[in-house]
Amino acid sequence: MPDNSTAELRLHGKTYTLPLVEGTMGDKAIDISNLLKETGYMTLDSGYKNTGSCASAITFLDGKEGVLRYRGYAIEELANNCIFVEVAYLLLHGKLPNEAELRAYRDLIGRFALIHEDMIHFFDHFPSHASPMSILSVMVNSLCNFYPEMSDDPLVDFDVTSTRLISKIRTIAAFSYKKSMGQPLVYPRHDLCYCGNFLNMMFDKPVHPYQVRPEVVAALNKLLILHADHEQNCSTSTVRLVGSAGVNIYAAISAGINALWGPLHGGANEAVIDMLETIYADDSNVRKYIDKAKDRSDPFRLSGFGHRVYKTFDPRGKIIKQACDEILGVLNVSDPLLDIARRLEEIALKEEYFIERNLYPNVDFYSGIIYRALGIPSNMFTVMFALGRLPGWLAQWKEMREDSTTRIGRPRQVYTGEPARKFVPLAERK
Ligand code: ACO
Repeated sequence: MPDNSTAELRLHGKTYTLPLVEGTMGDKAIDISNLLKETGYMTLDSGYKNTGSCASAITFLDGKEGVLRYRGYAIEELANNCIFVEVAYLLLHGKLPNEAELRAYRDLIGRFALIHEDMIHFFDHFPSHASPMSILSVMVNSLCNFYPEMSDDPLVDFDVTSTRLISKIRTIAAFSYKKSMGQPLVYPRHDLCYCGNFLNMMFDKPVHPYQVRPEVVAALNKLLILHADHEQNCSTSTVRLVGSAGVNIYAAISAGINALWGPLHGGANEAVIDMLETIYADDSNVRKYIDKAKDRSDPFRLSGFGHRVYKTFDPRGKIIKQACDEILGVLNVSDPLLDIARRLEEIALKEEYFIERNLYPNVDFYSGIIYRALGIPSNMFTVMFALGRLPGWLAQWKEMREDSTTRIGRPRQVYTGEPARKFVPLAERK
């Protein structure tokens, strides 16, 4: 009878038995944890295209069908019915909060919103053109000096620390914007919700008070929910890898922020707007840029297109596209970049190059257009992504630390350099 719980590997005439692992949604894996010890061989998988780095119960993603669920709940339902803080609670606690739990959680987030006054001086010493992503990662990293209690047993105070981070990252983000604009800081208010507070800290001015609009708050909630987790992507894997070395949580999250910054990852939202602006300035010549993207000798790629896991529409992209139409309508904004984005998508989806490579718009293709409509400058887009992704990073960090099988992340390599060479003293070198 065939054994469905193991795989066999034949190597130089010898057969090795490897256990099979199956997830609750049918993900199938071959457990190779003892491969090197037993066979002397490791696996080689550049970019980890075939490698599962952990087992996780947080987020399910089916790239063929375009399905995304947090803790079993469909992203569509969460995005349309929840606020961001509710989804953060879900990711971190594994269950949706009831009314009392949500009230208490919101209250706690509100109470942690201030940052230590000494940290505020840090902002003064960045050049005015400093990237808000670099400021964010520095400020989050330095939180460990102001709140060092996490260093002993990080899991004991995890609820407080994770709530503190979710609250303070928003204040840090808004303060970095205010500093870059040369405007006075606006402190958080306890009467405003998470998103309302952020918008108020960003846009309120002494001479021009900001009116928090519920439609704008709703749009921001939706965007942050859509970004809240995405299983083992580049920044989340970074948080886990750096965290596996035992660093404090602020350092691990700061590393995740830096990974997110890259234009192939979270930085794509800013890159999309740069690309759309370039096309707009070039007579809106969409065809030219589609051809450049298809030309393999040209490094240009369509930002906001393609995904390692999704081989169909990114479900988040679909929701964002609809939200984009809605919010631009509500705010009565007409953005020529939206027309260019729509034309790019329409043409690309019909082209053989994109069809055969399964390249579809991803979460970042339309998100920047919404952020623009909300008045958020493009160098803050990836910061917005970080605000949204933080609960996911925190939940993944906690899961990693609670898992007794976790070891320090330490990939191997196949060495391709020089064999052993005889050392030549400096005076004898040619
Ligand atoms: N434009 C043009 N061609 C593309 C694009 C694109 N956006 N994306 C992939 N391709 C092509 C590649 O050139 C490659 O072609 P080839 O088979 O002829 O060599 C093929 O499609 C497969 O691409 P890979 O780079 O091997 O796919 P990978 O899974 O490694 O990369 C990635 C995924 C990084 C997202 C890629 O699609 C890309 O660079 N997209 C643009 C940047 C972007 O939008 N990033 C955000 C992703 S979502 C997120 O992180 C939040």
